Amino acid sequence: MDKQFSDVGLIGLAVMGQNLALNMADHGFKVSVYNRTTSKMEAFLAQNAGTPGGLCGFGELGDFVKSLKRPRKIVIMVQAGPGTDAVIDSLVPLLETGDIVVDGGNAKWTDTMRREAALKTAGLRFIGSGVSGGEEGARFGPSLMPGGDPEAYAHLKPIWDAIAAKVDSKTGEPLSGARPGHPIQGGVPCNAYIGTNGAGHYVKMVHNGIEYGDMQLISEGYAIMRDLLSLAAPSMGKVFEDWNSGVLRSFLIGVAAEVLKQKDPSGKGFLVDFIVDAAQQKGTGKWTAMHALDMGTAAPTIASAVFARCMSSLRTERLEASAILKGPKVLVSDPDVNGIINDIHEALYCSKICSYAQGFHILQEAQKLYDWKFNFGEIAQIWRGGCIIRAAFLQKITEAYERNPKLSNLLLDPYFCDALHRGQAGWRRIVALCAEHGIYAPNFYSALAYYDGLRNPALPLNLLQGLRDYFGAHTYERIDAPAGQHFHLDWQHPSRPQRVV
Ligand code: 6PG
Repeated sequence: MDKQFSDVGLIGLAVMGQNLALNMADHGFKVSVYNRTTSKMEAFLAQNAGTPGGLCGFGELGDFVKSLKRPRKIVIMVQAGPGTDAVIDSLVPLLETGDIVVDGGNAKWTDTMRREAALKTAGLRFIGSGVSGGEEGARFGPSLMPGGDPEAYAHLKPIWDAIAAKVDSKTGEPLSGARPGHPIQGGVPCNAYIGTNGAGHYVKMVHNGIEYGDMQLISEGYAIMRDLLSLAAPSMGKVFEDWNSGVLRSFLIGVAAEVLKQKDPSGKGFLVDFIVDAAQQKGTGKWTAMHALDMGTAAPTIASAVFARCMSSLRTERLEASAILKGPKVLVSDPDVNGIINDIHEALYCSKICSYAQGFHILQEAQKLYDWKFNFGEIAQIWRGGCIIRAAFLQKITEAYERNPKLSNLLLDPYFCDALHRGQAGWRRIVALCAEHGIYAPNFYSALAYYDGLRNPALPLNLLQGLRDYFGAHTYERIDAPAGQHFHLDWQHPSRPQRVV
């Protein structure tokens, strides 16, 4: 056997790493695998003997590296953070000029930039690739968002194209039916080169910010049905199931239907009613919101989804406050159930449009900052299959950017503009209903505020600028003077001319 026989190496055999290795092997690639705990690697190989391309395990990192064809392509699938640096540090002395290290974890884009620059000085190449789709996606087709050295990516592309989820070239519909040893044939891969250095991980981060927004909106729709309409879990599951054949058709709406219909294994009722209402987070949504703030970009719905998780984790405080702080009566007597459910649908769809508009706006601002050149239509397309936010609606985003690649905000595209015009009456009724009955629905509120803010040519922040100038001489611009010319008034002697600053 040739000494350098494997097409690709993979380090880190947790769930995502195992499934990605099997996916690559299913596509005929010879895959060398390495795990810090050798017994885990051995158990993995024993369970998956005889995969078509072939898996080969190594207990020594040096042997693992030697088994790879040049330039070596090594995919790291470990928990993002210091663990990734530790793996890179142990690899670097074993690699040779031109070898390619691929980080498939949820790394922060600034870490990816730092790692790419550091490896370059050692003559090595680094790709930071977003990998979305969880366990199932990794196994049968994830959405892939690679960024880094374009020449290095050319070596990775055949593997990434092969293992990615596939969509129909005309309709954009995800192709399904893959099973072990029988991957999808044909279709357009949900994989595209995103840009230099940290671009791929940046886009994956924004994907996750949008994922946070989607999940919070779904949960708020559920809250209204549960608390205002007193619907039982399986009835709400049926509502989500119905919605999953319309404009909201998406992986997460389908999952919501499944989760709501799931009986508790102990036989006590429905599982969702026994799950503690405190959501955890690993940081990608928070990074998205933080970077939007750093850039001065309005992304209130994504940020409010992060804060909603923070609010949920204040469980002890909420339990204490619930006995003290009073609100209005929650239940509506004799409600128009179908009418309210239709309104929730409108609120969910319109808010989702606003949330995605914010995500794409963040990408628009970030590309200026980092000199990336994103193809927004293509990004929406590679999210059509494989990833957690995969949804029929992304096709409309691709079409919107095809119509106008320089679209300043998604809400201004005729399709989305029309959808918002048609849905806003129901959306406003839902926000009013939540306010009137004391239902916590921050994402419905913040998305509507985003919509009303964006379409407002005269926000009241002229007064705020006046306040800033009054107490701090922070200056203001005038509507009757050229933009960029700043004035200050001596507020104690207002008859004196305004000073141009
Ligand atoms: C994906 C997911 C995946 C994971 C998030 C969850 O695209 O496959 O986004 O990356 O679900 O890490 O993050 P939280 O634990 O913060 O919800």
